[in-house]
Amino acid sequence: MPGDKSISHRALIFGALATGTTRIRGLLEAEDVVNTARAVVALGALAEKRGDIWEVRGRGPGGLRAPSHPLDFGNSGTGTRLMMGVVAGHPMTVTMTGDASLSRRPMRRVLSPLMQMGLDVLEIGKETLPLTLRGTRDLIPILYVLPVPSAQVKSAVLIAGLHASGETSVIEREATRDHTERILRYFGASVRVEAETSGTRITVKGDAELTGRDISVPGDPSSAAFLAAAALIVPGSDVTIEGVLVNPTRTGVYTTFQEMGGDVTFLNPREEGGEPVADIRVRASRLKGVRVPAGRAPSMIDEYPVLAAVAAFAQGATQMDGLAELKVKESDRLQATAAGLAANGIKARIDGDTLTVEGEGRIKGGGRVVTHLDHRIAMAFLIAGLASDQPIAVDDSSMIATSFPEFRTIMESLGACFESA
Ligand code: S3P
Repeated sequence: MPGDKSISHRALIFGALATGTTRIRGLLEAEDVVNTARAVVALGALAEKRGDIWEVRGRGPGGLRAPSHPLDFGNSGTGTRLMMGVVAGHPMTVTMTGDASLSRRPMRRVLSPLMQMGLDVLEIGKETLPLTLRGTRDLIPILYVLPVPSAQVKSAVLIAGLHASGETSVIEREATRDHTERILRYFGASVRVEAETSGTRITVKGDAELTGRDISVPGDPSSAAFLAAAALIVPGSDVTIEGVLVNPTRTGVYTTFQEMGGDVTFLNPREEGGEPVADIRVRASRLKGVRVPAGRAPSMIDEYPVLAAVAAFAQGATQMDGLAELKVKESDRLQATAAGLAANGIKARIDGDTLTVEGEGRIKGGGRVVTHLDHRIAMAFLIAGLASDQPIAVDDSSMIATSFPEFRTIMESLGACFESA
């Protein structure tokens, strides 16, 4: 499995903020991550591939320099928002840009806590890219209660906190992916995680020293979910996906597949680079509709489009609650998923933040799905097309390269057949 996207971004960013050299094995070489690599180089770190290994020579927290050009983050919300935390802690002015999808996504959720810490946004009141930000050497530590369950916002505040004097804390009511906390510890920062009545408090000590480390990036469970979904719905399948990250803050979709009656087993559990890893074996299964609780959403937020596709092949209704955050991803995924299902003969309805898919054990297919520049919408419906009565078309597949460039080759090696119009 290609490397995890979230950990790949973080390995490059923390490598750039560390003193010394970080060697990354298994970095995901997808467009989103390549844009982050270009950004850290533009900020004065060194990031280059030597053989199989990406080497990052960092400049220490606060040691980066102003770039000579705007930083283009392409399609990537993670790259943009984490780097906003980096810029906040440096006395420099940086312009950030992105593609049409990224330029529609909300940045206030990150800018608001960072501005409390001392970041300046030069376009007053503007909340979407392009934006020009001015950081400072004198960030103020804060205590921030996350208003939305977002690992990107949590991470941006913690990264800024590395550059503040004193302790910066984030309180999250619902657990979101904890890769930043893990990698910060791995690089030698002081991080405390404490349970509170209102959730979890994560505290980072400012004026931090980070030391470059060797890091191995486990396989991406969000990309692996497409393979697992394909194996569940295509009769006769038996697929083992090796070396997948199984951090519990990321495995909600596998739990859901199991609850639907899916034959999904984690084999050979082990630890790599401070993260739990396993091989995942998936066999074609008779599936039934289930109710997916809102509390599970953060651990599978990127997997709802593919779960919805699988739910269409189950018998009975699958009700997915608590999907507010889906509306602000690379597209409005709630709408895009429901529309894609409708275009292929599946009954799906949106009720506030709930999506319900009426599974009938099969999909008619034959529809054309509008992807809105969203890689996961494209992949979810291509997977559905593997088992639908008629093939399913997507209007664009180029943006799959933002997260999973090997998607087509891997699927073809498992027997999938794609036609280009
Ligand atoms: C990510 C966090 C999630 C997720 C995204 C990657 C990360 O976004 O959707 O693909 O690496 O921190 P939010 O933090 O906005 O929920």
